[in-house]
Amino acid sequence: MSEEDPQAPRIPQKGIFDGESESPGSGNVTKNGQVTPLSLMIPTFESVQTLPTPMTYTPPGHSAKSPRQALVISKRRGDAVQAAKEDVVVQHRVVSELFPLPEAAQQRVSSLPTVSESSSTADFSLSARNDLIEVDTVDDQEILTGYMLNRLDVPMRWKKVKQIGSGNFSNVFLYESVDPIADPRLKLVSVKRIKYPEELVNRRALNPQLAKDLLSRLESSLSREISILKSLDYPSIVKLYGINNPVFITSKKPLRDLMLREDKLPHCDMIMSYCSGGDLLVAATSCNGKLEVSVIQRLFSELVMAVKYLHDNNVIHRDLKLENVLLKFPLDAIIDMKDSPVYLKHNLIELADFGLCKKIEPGELCTARCGSEDYVSPEILMGIPYDGRLSDTWALGVILFGLLEDRLPFDPPPNASARQRNRATSHRIARYEWKWFRLLNEDLDAKEIVQHTLTRKSERWRIDQIRESSFVKSTADALPF
Ligand SMILES: Nc1ncnc2c1ncn2[C@@H]1O[C@H](COP(=O)(O)OP(=O)(O)O)[C@@H](O)[C@H]1O
Ligand SMILES: [Mg+2]
Repeated sequence: MSEEDPQAPRIPQKGIFDGESESPGSGNVTKNGQVTPLSLMIPTFESVQTLPTPMTYTPPGHSAKSPRQALVISKRRGDAVQAAKEDVVVQHRVVSELFPLPEAAQQRVSSLPTVSESSSTADFSLSARNDLIEVDTVDDQEILTGYMLNRLDVPMRWKKVKQIGSGNFSNVFLYESVDPIADPRLKLVSVKRIKYPEELVNRRALNPQLAKDLLSRLESSLSREISILKSLDYPSIVKLYGINNPVFITSKKPLRDLMLREDKLPHCDMIMSYCSGGDLLVAATSCNGKLEVSVIQRLFSELVMAVKYLHDNNVIHRDLKLENVLLKFPLDAIIDMKDSPVYLKHNLIELADFGLCKKIEPGELCTARCGSEDYVSPEILMGIPYDGRLSDTWALGVILFGLLEDRLPFDPPPNASARQRNRATSHRIARYEWKWFRLLNEDLDAKEIVQHTLTRKSERWRIDQIRESSFVKSTADALPF
């Protein structure tokens, strides 16, 4: 549905709230609301070249002129460094997500935190290109009341300190407790405030079926993130301590339940462990490529252990990237700590952002085409059923390459011609087109991990092979967790 459509009906409330189905319909919904059967089309390699330009998500306040331009103008690195210098939140980091293949509804892309493995509609995906916003535009959340997962009956209060992050689907804030608190970990917490699609918040230009579809996707995805986070317990994985409304824990359809009460979309604030070092993208870029290999080895090994924990527990992350790896301490402090015993005793990172994660059966393949443009594996791009564990290890290869080379592997190469520069990142990914530059003549153990992960899936290393590689093994063996 086009947001410009002046004829578009307002959302009839009944359509949203009737709670009829948990999952969206099984066909393509056309503009006038008719349902057509799904057509199954497995795209061939050739069709990858004709993939539409990846969509961009532009947070409020930044208007990009075109998707292509948007990708180029704030291609992560410069922004992150600048933001780190100015101690401001990266507001205009443009994050690319995938775009649905035309007429390939079953191998679709979801760019919302609302990944469904089964079906979608072209219209729905288009709506995902619009801005996601917080429920309230006014800053009314100076004091937050929250409930710990293990004490849902006892409210606790925190005061907002500042915004510390912004992602595709949320704004993240630092809060400080105002009540005397027994557990020191709860004194400073990070609060992840979910953004909703603008058309849902303002209830405009959305037909009832789409609104219902969107809402139930949002709901199932939110519930999934919360329930998986609740089930995880590993030092290097972000912890969910509490929530602003117990209904998000107790109900299977929290958004609909809360909307029935208040007739508007409710805030969803996840109260989580705080990582004072911020995310690894900002931290690494602030070093201008001078991050020592030994520090990369320490951080990457811990990340591998976190992903191994997930895979061992049948969870795939599906959005592994530098922005989603958080540092427990500022990078300078970590570097200074190198000779202290804490360096190998304490976790230095926390893996965050479980908005696209999924619990899977051993051997189960996924179909939802989701992830972030620079980190997505060729098989996801091509829309064929994929092994989520292998897509995660691909993304680990992208992360390691990024840390070692100070650029992402599928960015245009440093010596690129104008023509190469104009080619989409997805084009290079689909052709496994990456090369060493800085490390070209270096003999480094780390390189074999990249070589065995940024490769076709039949040859790609699984997490256990990365764990046992010489670059990771000795460090991982020394960690007490
Ligand atoms: N616990 C935290 N401590 C410090 N910064 C955080 C924390 N959680 C998130 N952030 C910052 O906020 C950004 C967005 O958070 P994330 O959970 O990735 O949300 P999204 O799903 O919107 O991408 C992160 O990239 C990071 O910069
Ligand atoms: Mg994120």
